[in-house]
Amino acid sequence: MDSILVKGNGALNGVIPIAGAKNACLTLMPATLLSEEPLTLTNAPRLSDIATMTQLLQSLGAEVASLQEGKVLALASHGAINHVADYDIVRKMRASNLVLGPLLAREGHAIVSLPGGCAIGARPMDLHIHGLEAMGAEIELKDGYLHAKAKGGKLRGAELTLRMASVGATENILMAATLAKGTTVINNAAREPEIVDLAQCLRKMGAQIEGEGTSRIEIQGVDRLGGATHQVVTDRIELGTYMLAPAICGGEVELLGGRMNLVAAFAEKLDEAGVSVTETANGLKVSRKNGRLKAVDVTTEPFPGFPTDLQAQMMALLCTAEGTSVLEEKIFENRFMHAPELLRMGAQIEVHGGHATVHGVEKLRGARVMATDLRASVSLILAGLAAEGETVVSRVYHLDRGYERVEEKFRGIGAHIERISA
Ligand code: UD1
Repeated sequence: MDSILVKGNGALNGVIPIAGAKNACLTLMPATLLSEEPLTLTNAPRLSDIATMTQLLQSLGAEVASLQEGKVLALASHGAINHVADYDIVRKMRASNLVLGPLLAREGHAIVSLPGGCAIGARPMDLHIHGLEAMGAEIELKDGYLHAKAKGGKLRGAELTLRMASVGATENILMAATLAKGTTVINNAAREPEIVDLAQCLRKMGAQIEGEGTSRIEIQGVDRLGGATHQVVTDRIELGTYMLAPAICGGEVELLGGRMNLVAAFAEKLDEAGVSVTETANGLKVSRKNGRLKAVDVTTEPFPGFPTDLQAQMMALLCTAEGTSVLEEKIFENRFMHAPELLRMGAQIEVHGGHATVHGVEKLRGARVMATDLRASVSLILAGLAAEGETVVSRVYHLDRGYERVEEKFRGIGAHIERISA
């Protein structure tokens, strides 16, 4: 298994282009199942999660061609569609469950493996299931697979309220509702930019949707959807991650394609900690203000709150801030697995349930550490860039799921980072 070697070597300066959003692309791709006509996605990120979704869609009978070195995905689902999403592919990635809504809407039935348990918590699918049941689906769990069937062969519109503003459940129900008979209203819908991006693409395909980006989305079902070309929205998590590089190490970095409205709550916390973030014509510019970083308290929340997917990286920053910070994780129950690894680098962190208390130290020291999930991996790289000496992060296959050309991008701003192939 590959590992990443990082050496802290001072301030970072330069420009980093930010890719299209992994989480938007992973929900836009299955939207192809809703139409017989081609769907073209531009600004797609080159990631192993995208390769997994490609493999899943191909196993269902969709065509997926990767063009321009993977930056453009040409999708089409005009032939016969297989309605069984197999465990061997689904288990690799929870987002595979996003084929359930589109398959059910198109075929009237679907058999989709339940994604396996995930390292960052239980992540059940009850909200997806209840939402689709409210729309007339009958869903049973048999042998680890969800067997779903639309009563009368077609989903019906319904008004439903999500117990939690789940991103995946909102996406699955939204996609299913575009072809349902009648009107669907999703109350307490998730408001993430990736959902807005999905709704905009579906609208180009002919869907009738109102209210995306608010907690009430209304969808008027139509008989069929057509083709579209759509540019994937900027990855706000990749953006936030690289914003932390100059924040932690000093220097000034411009993130091309970044927009403040994608990371407002995060940028506000950075400002409080002593980091300046300004909008430029092409993106966002980030630099450290004078003096040592200051401790700040952070609570993760659904969008527009502070994103759970930036919590691990923010913790890396707070490890060397002056004072005591409290991080509260409200989205996932087991998302502090990076804390024991940061301790190996000299950080002072106590975890109690959903809270982590970080006492800032002057300096971290390089160490051998292990990546436990996607965002934890990159938090260890960030910590390594700020540490004295060498840090080796092992199990970095997680990184390739969510960060394209990660070493190249960090090297582009002067970081000392290399991949060691096993
Ligand atoms: C998406 C993102 C992930 C991000 C998360 C929260 C993708 C591919 N992934 O994941 O990177 O961390 O949003 O911003 O877009 N829940 C239930 N029942 C359900 C569904 C969810 O209880 O049926 C719970 C989950 O266990 C979790 C919370 O709701 O505690 C939020 O999950 P959700 O918003 O659904 O996350 P995902 O869509 O899986």
